Amino acid sequence: MPDVILKIEGLDKSFALSRNSRLGIAERNLVVNDLNMTIEKGCITGLIGGNGAGKTTVFNLINGFLKADKGNIFFNRNGEIISCHSMKPHKIARLGIGRMFQGAQLFEDLTVKENLILSFVDPVTEVPFYNIFRSRRYRKLMHDADSYILEKVCGSGEYAALNNLMDVKAGSLSFAQQRMVAFVSLLWGKKDLLILDEPTSGVHETEWPWMGEKLKEYCHNGGAVLLIEHNIEFISNYIEQCYYLSSGKIMFEGLTQNVLSQPDVKKDYLA
Ligand SMILES: Nc1ncnc2c1ncn2[C@@H]1O[C@H](COP(=O)(O)OP(=O)(O)O)[C@@H](O)[C@H]1O
Ligand SMILES: [Mg+2]
Repeated sequence: MPDVILKIEGLDKSFALSRNSRLGIAERNLVVNDLNMTIEKGCITGLIGGNGAGKTTVFNLINGFLKADKGNIFFNRNGEIISCHSMKPHKIARLGIGRMFQGAQLFEDLTVKENLILSFVDPVTEVPFYNIFRSRRYRKLMHDADSYILEKVCGSGEYAALNNLMDVKAGSLSFAQQRMVAFVSLLWGKKDLLILDEPTSGVHETEWPWMGEKLKEYCHNGGAVLLIEHNIEFISNYIEQCYYLSSGKIMFEGLTQNVLSQPDVKKDYLA
């Protein structure tokens, strides 16, 4: 699978609903039902569907927060096909999968710059994460990261939204600004595949084209992106391939415009 970065095969995930006390059997809610997906390098792929369709659960399965009942996920690391079955989240992150959550997930007591610097370092090393700012091993990396940030953020207009925010504590930013920092931090994290859960949510619409172009650039440089999105303008403009999920099953897949034109998608999702 040379151009495929992630392959999901026959994935099932159910959650216990309630226990039938008479029979002692737990009733289960099948939230992801025989899911098959292929994510290609150099491409922005979308996972769309109504509320409760199972989209975030799919992301939790991909990054190892949840374990599938059945099926498997394969990751292509430079030609080596790796089964992610039962792999812990930190191992999956180290394989090269980065995730942006629905919230901001920043270190609120650290400044924006410190949060961004953390995107350069690997938290799963012999150096305890909390010690990163004090460790000698990382001092050089910190210095390089600092220069990179100065050049990228302050020296060019490329990250204009973050200018003047570098020394501000992340916790005192607006939600929109926090989302932007989380987005940039993910882009800088040197991952091969980014999975983003509604990246434009809470972000001002003037920033959407910038985010879309950044994702395109990321894919152009060999990365791959899978994103959950409700923002139809963003989907139409930036997502090339699309999967439409309904009750845990892929109902439609293919070129975004074709998927969006399906009457069921229009009725259920665009209404
Ligand atoms: N940890 C969990 N335990 C039980 N039910 C869950 C859990 N996570 C998600 N669900 C259920 O799975 C379904 C799909 O949820 P989710 O994946 O969050 O949907 P989406 O992201 O498409 O809105 C929902 O009915 C939700 O209540
Ligand atoms: Mg969700």
